[in-house]
Amino acid sequence: MMEMKTNIVLIGFMGAGKTEAGKLLAKKMGLNFIDLDFLIESYEGMTITEIFKQKGEPYFRDLESKVIKDIGKNKKDVLNSLKKFIDITIESDNLIFYGKDKFWVISTGGGTPVYNDNLKILKRLGFIVYLKAGSKTIYKRIKSEKNRPVLGQEGFSEKGIKNILKERENVYERADIIIYTDGLSLQSVAEEIDIFVLNLSGH
Ligand code: S3P
Repeated sequence: MMEMKTNIVLIGFMGAGKTEAGKLLAKKMGLNFIDLDFLIESYEGMTITEIFKQKGEPYFRDLESKVIKDIGKNKKDVLNSLKKFIDITIESDNLIFYGKDKFWVISTGGGTPVYNDNLKILKRLGFIVYLKAGSKTIYKRIKSEKNRPVLGQEGFSEKGIKNILKERENVYERADIIIYTDGLSLQSVAEEIDIFVLNLSGH
């Protein structure tokens, strides 16, 4: 197995598979994994939907920036930053921990790179992978889910998704690499990222 020299940060719209493909990738490469939404939910003791409802989106965005800023401060020791926010021994599907000397796969929320100077911070934190999906695919993947406060305001139609996607796309596309996920299984997405990173590291 090749040796990773940096963290991998997954960005992209809701339903792009950041969390699920991220977990598969981490397991495949023997890296640690953390999901930012999960981190925020554990820290606040509330679901994202509850945070949006009770404290508002600006509060959520501030918290999101604060968390990545803290993690970004010491990208070689993500674990220590995470300990501020979460009990790392917690058994969870959204936290995989193989060891403190391992790099991390970090899956972000769909809005994370878009706000404040988050993208800059994420770029310092690791190699950025944009999991790109079209509005049709996204709509199909998430139409039956309820935990999507951002889309709730837009009426949750394919057109609503398309509009937000259009606003965000130019930020997402500033990633180091783009993976087109339409029609791909999560397993294939994880494999593609693996292959890309492998090529980049010159192995
Ligand atoms: C958001 C995406 C969600 C979550 C929050 C806001 C967004 O994350 O952070 O509901 O603004 O697109 P996922 O992309 O993991 O669903």
